[in-house]
Amino acid sequence: MTEPSGNMRTADGAPTLEVRGISRAFGSVQALRDVSLVVRPGEVVGLVGDNGAGKSTLVKIISGAQAPSSGEILVGGQRVEFHTPKASRAMGIEVVYQDLALATELTVAENIFLGREIKYGGLLRRLGVLNRRKMRVEAEKALASLGITIQATTTRCGLLSGGQRQAVAVARAIMWGSKVLLLDEPTAALAVAETEKIGELVKAAARHGVAILLISHDMAQVRKICDRVAVLLRGELVADLPTESTSIEDIVLWITGGAMVVSE
Ligand SMILES: Nc1ncnc2c1ncn2[C@@H]1O[C@H](COP(=O)(O)OP(=O)(O)O)[C@@H](O)[C@H]1O
Ligand SMILES: [Mg+2]
Repeated sequence: MTEPSGNMRTADGAPTLEVRGISRAFGSVQALRDVSLVVRPGEVVGLVGDNGAGKSTLVKIISGAQAPSSGEILVGGQRVEFHTPKASRAMGIEVVYQDLALATELTVAENIFLGREIKYGGLLRRLGVLNRRKMRVEAEKALASLGITIQATTTRCGLLSGGQRQAVAVARAIMWGSKVLLLDEPTAALAVAETEKIGELVKAAARHGVAILLISHDMAQVRKICDRVAVLLRGELVADLPTESTSIEDIVLWITGGAMVVSE
């Protein structure tokens, strides 16, 4: 398993991920308005909000899948500009989506190594032949170290349960030593036990120093695994609260805009 690299606190204590003043409009819809947020190494931040609040748009902007209208993104204190998800991935930003980012026709091992295939040396390397055996062994080691049980890493991902697929996607992010893990409703389609498992994996990633942004509608899960909870309301970040001292009722009040009324 690859050790996480460069994802510990930088010398000047810069957060792993910082978004500053991000705005994005789609025609007349202001999906995000001046959103600023920080995620430090080893921190799990819950990003919550009603449907259409702008959560997925923020994740897409951070990962380079969409461009902001204005604002900036910093990784480890350095300003970055991604035009493709591939570019953000090269900087250690991994995304796990609800709709299962794995290629269903590929095996577990192939998915884990997708885009980073281990090649043989020498002539075979030049011919671009994949070292399937090595990929399989490394994938098995990585999954075992995270306590993930899969029938075999040669199983095609289309045959796995939703929870197993999400576990493989999270494991892939952890084993490649990513600095930032963005999860957009990773457990929305999962059974309770599978949701628990993903929660444990997210905590394990945080212990590796990964900075995590978790979009979830499951407030109990947010309370359980997040250090902070950030609330988007119609594109604006209206609250950024320590989870420990925030009840589910409080979070829901912020999500619905009720907290703004109460405090006015
Ligand atoms: N590609 C797009 N084109 C037009 N409107 C979009 C697009 N993506 C998102 N939106 C709009 O932006 C707003 C925020 O959407 P989204 O980020 O998906 O919210 P959430 O993930 O919180 O449900 C919504 O009003 C949505 O309809
Ligand atoms: Mg969404």
